[in-house]
Parts: sequence; structure tokens; C-alpha cells
Amino acid sequence: MSESAKQGEVLVRAESVSKLFSSRAGETLAVDDVSLDVRRGETVGIVGESGSGKSTLARLIMGLQPVTSGRILFEGQELSAMTGKAQHALRGKMQMVFQNPYGSLLPHYTAVGNVAEPLRLHNRGTRESRRAKALELLELVGVNPRFADLSPRQFSGGQQQRIAIARALALEPDLLVCDEPTSSLDVSIQAQILALLEELRGSLGLSCVFISHNLAVVERLADRVAVMRTGKIVEAAPTEQLFADPQDEYTKTLLAAVLPVRA
Ligand SMILES: Nc1ncnc2c1ncn2[C@@H]1O[C@H](COP(=O)(O)OP(=O)(O)OP(=O)(O)O)[C@@H](O)[C@H]1O
Ligand SMILES: [Mg+2]
Repeated sequence: MSESAKQGEVLVRAESVSKLFSSRAGETLAVDDVSLDVRRGETVGIVGESGSGKSTLARLIMGLQPVTSGRILFEGQELSAMTGKAQHALRGKMQMVFQNPYGSLLPHYTAVGNVAEPLRLHNRGTRESRRAKALELLELVGVNPRFADLSPRQFSGGQQQRIAIARALALEPDLLVCDEPTSSLDVSIQAQILALLEELRGSLGLSCVFISHNLAVVERLADRVAVMRTGKIVEAAPTEQLFADPQDEYTKTLLAAVLPVRA
């Protein structure tokens, strides 16, 4: 199929997905019968109060945690039904960017080593070609390759997030799941990282799931928005429509709460 024909086809589908956590403290239905499609080239924003299940849903989509019920389909194939080898290959097509960049990097590896690591894990190229590709990626995300051999802690938070983004791009994923990727950064740096994600998404044709508490950011980046509350998607709509004419009472409250900031 041509690239243009692929645009708009469903890349990832969550089908009636639930996640129940059981512990001595009790049971939490963190994700409750959620269905969601992410199409090729599309950015889906996920918003909702703390504890509403956004990160859990992201981890289920990524196959980082097993679903309690329901299915996650990537290009029509069910993740949990695959062999280990097929799953490993597929994992490379989905990458995640986390809130805390330092925690997501390997502290004993250099910046370039961190970016090259997924290539090594997936047996791509030689040591030299992996380093060359990692240096290119660092440049792409705006980290001067001169600093490639420094360790993560020697970089600022914004630069660390750039390194984490470069690493997420190393295997040329189709899907990037960003879970509050700028929440731990200064406001001015947040804007730079968002601009970078926006640019990369366009130039690489990535599909994105973008989780944020910041509705203004979601309004800017997302094509569609899903609103979560207590594990459920209470409303999902094209971004413009959701912000202009929210249907669900909770969405209305959520939007009203930020109006003074947006004004
Ligand atoms: N590993 C776990 N074990 C037990 N409960 C969990 C686990 N992970 C998440 N939960 C619970 O599931 C619910 C949803 O959590 P989740 O982290 O997905 O919410 P969130 O929407 O990402 O919140 P935030 O905006 O604060 O990041 C919460 O009640 C949380 O305590
Ligand atoms: Mg979260």
C-alpha cells in the first residue's frame, strides 16, 4: 500500500479494554471498558484528572502491562496473541516518552549510548553504524553531537528529554506515546519540547498519543481528544468540536476550570 493510502488507516485499536489492579489495599479498576482508535498520522490527546487511568491506558496500548480484558490491536494484530519474537519486533514500532526524562534514561550510558541502545537490542547495524545513526538523531532533536559522550546527568532537563525523544525515534516507530512529556520542565523549555514534538510528528508522519493535564497544549497538538474519568472515556471528539461544544458534563467542568487561564 502507498504511504498516502496508509494515512488515516487504524494503526492501534483498543477494544473494550479494562485493567484491574488487585492489592492488599483493595481493587482498582484503573481502565474500565475503554475503546479507542489511533489512525496513521493522527495525534490523539488524552486528558482527565489525576488517577483517571491515562497512564495505565498508555501502558496497555504499549503492551507494557497485560490487559485484564479486551484487546489491543496493532495494525489489526493482537499484541497478546503474538509470539515473543513478533512482539519484540512490534515493540520497536511503538515508543514512549515519559514525564521524567532522567528516570527514563540509562544513567551509566552516555547520551549517544542511550540513543543507540534500542538499535542494539533489536540487532540493527554494526556498532559504528548505530553510533552514527544515534549522532544523527541527537542532531535532529537539537542536542549538539559534541556533547554526545556526556552522561545524562550532565544535561539539563530539557536536553535530557530531547535525548529521550531521540532514543524513542531510533527504531523509526509508527507510534509515539507521550505521557506528560513536559510536566517536569520549566515553562520556556516546555514550549521548546512541544515545538520539537510537533515538528517531528509532521516530518516523520508519526501517530501520537499525547497525555497531558494542560488542555491548551492538547488543543494545540491533538487532532482528536478523549476525556477520561474514573477509568472510562466519557467523551471523545475532534479537538475543535470538543473545545467548542463539549457534550459531557465532566468535560464541560474540565474546560470551565481552565477558562481563566486561557483568557
Ligand atoms: N501498578 C498499580 N497497582 C495498583 N494500582 C495502580 C497501579 N497503577 C495505577 N494504579 C491505580 O490506577 C488508577 C489510575 O492510575 P493512572 O496512573 O493510570 O492515572 P493517571 O490518569 O495517569 O493519573 P496522573 O494524571 O496522576 O498521572 C489510580 O487509582 C492508581 O492508583
Ligand atoms: Mg499518569
